[in-house]
Amino acid sequence: MSNKNFDINNLWREKEEVLDLTHQVSKEFLRALPHRNVLPSKEDVLNLEQFVYKLPENATNATAIIKELNTLGSPGTMLTASPRYFGFVNGGALPASIAAMWLATVWDQSPTMKLMSPTVCKLEKVVEEWIVDILNLPSDTTCSYVTGTTTADILCLVGARNYVLKKYGWDVVKKGLIGAPKIRVIVGEEVHTTMLRALRVIGIGNEQIEKVSVNKAGVIDITALPRFNDEPTIVCLNAGNTDTGGFDDFNYIIDKAKKYGAWVHVDGAFGLWARTSQHYRYLTKGIEKADSWATDGHKWLNTPYDSGIALFRNERAIQESIQLKANYLIQDSEDPMNTTLETSRRARAVELWAALKSLGKRGVSEMIDNSCRLTKYFESQLKAAGFEILNEVFINQVMVSFGSSKKTKLMIKAIQDDGLAWFSGTNWQGKEAMRISVSNWATTTTDIDRIMELILKLNKEIKA
Ligand SMILES: Cc1ncc(COP(=O)(O)O)c(C=O)c1O
Repeated sequence: MSNKNFDINNLWREKEEVLDLTHQVSKEFLRALPHRNVLPSKEDVLNLEQFVYKLPENATNATAIIKELNTLGSPGTMLTASPRYFGFVNGGALPASIAAMWLATVWDQSPTMKLMSPTVCKLEKVVEEWIVDILNLPSDTTCSYVTGTTTADILCLVGARNYVLKKYGWDVVKKGLIGAPKIRVIVGEEVHTTMLRALRVIGIGNEQIEKVSVNKAGVIDITALPRFNDEPTIVCLNAGNTDTGGFDDFNYIIDKAKKYGAWVHVDGAFGLWARTSQHYRYLTKGIEKADSWATDGHKWLNTPYDSGIALFRNERAIQESIQLKANYLIQDSEDPMNTTLETSRRARAVELWAALKSLGKRGVSEMIDNSCRLTKYFESQLKAAGFEILNEVFINQVMVSFGSSKKTKLMIKAIQDDGLAWFSGTNWQGKEAMRISVSNWATTTTDIDRIMELILKLNKEIKA
């Protein structure tokens, strides 16, 4: 063993040993996952302090690094991949998608240009076809693989902004935004907070946004829709409200907006996947008439994180808005970098390809149906126990009140602290509630039964 810190031969030698160890500890982690508490213990979180030290002067062996990461890091994780995690629509990761991600990491590819990664660029095109097919979107829809729905929103909205302004005689690429005509932006009052962030990023301030009132399901009340006119207009709709799982009336709103040439964008972070199911597709009726859609693989399709997908029909509007050129680049008109915000990026389509292929078209819709069935089961158990359900259950979201605001908050805290499962709280139209998002492929009725036992026990204790 040399005593150099940067030693190429040593780094080569470490490779196999460290990958074997990682394989082994990953398997142990996944094996224990369904049996562990979702919440890490206080002690395990405290132990993370052991990570806090100055960057060592000298090199550390790769296996020692993975041992440290596993010993300290693995117990300190909040198990968002657990079948009993019901917060924030996180999903889990299907086995094939985890393994595909590992392999793609070993490949170390960036699908910036076709030249840089023939395999990943090919898979991106294949996944585009599969996703457009399974979501039943227009065949000329382009997919762009980004980090998450927020980024997908930003990308689509940049194209939307430039397109509606150009139609109005203002070329943003040439002139920028200062002095540009005002854009009307219409959203529902229950718009997801990340959509407002995306709008701010593209230069639309909160005061510029027209918020339309919503109904009990949190979706746009179509009787309150403002009149459309010939001004440059962007409409942002929602497929799957994060609290209720409700869907805007795409058919009605898009027809109205399109008559005046507005660009309609849909945030379908998780709800867009309902379109893969013959039982829930009706909720998305008319969604195909939109101009762009944003969704995630890492929510309801159960891929690892960092798997956002921007879908849009007007590829030219997107390309013109984000174009780049450099003499050192070997560019092809079909290069993915022409339609993504990032130039260098992970080979995200690989895990999407694996997840889709591992379930097949039928399996994806069965997984979605299963989440919705379990959500209904959860709802029925909570109702049977006498608790109030605050929303009509459309897909995979339930909100439950345990009584007064104070009691509901106490119950949420007690359930979170117990650690068996994890749910978030929310305030729904003035009432405190616990949110339940069912999106993990591995969840079963047995998990829900165990949680119901806990809820009933805590309810008794809190009452007492
Ligand atoms: C409806 C909706 N839109 C957008 C987002 C943001 O997604 P991401 O975290 O992938 O950016 C979320 C989730 O947080 C969501 O539920």
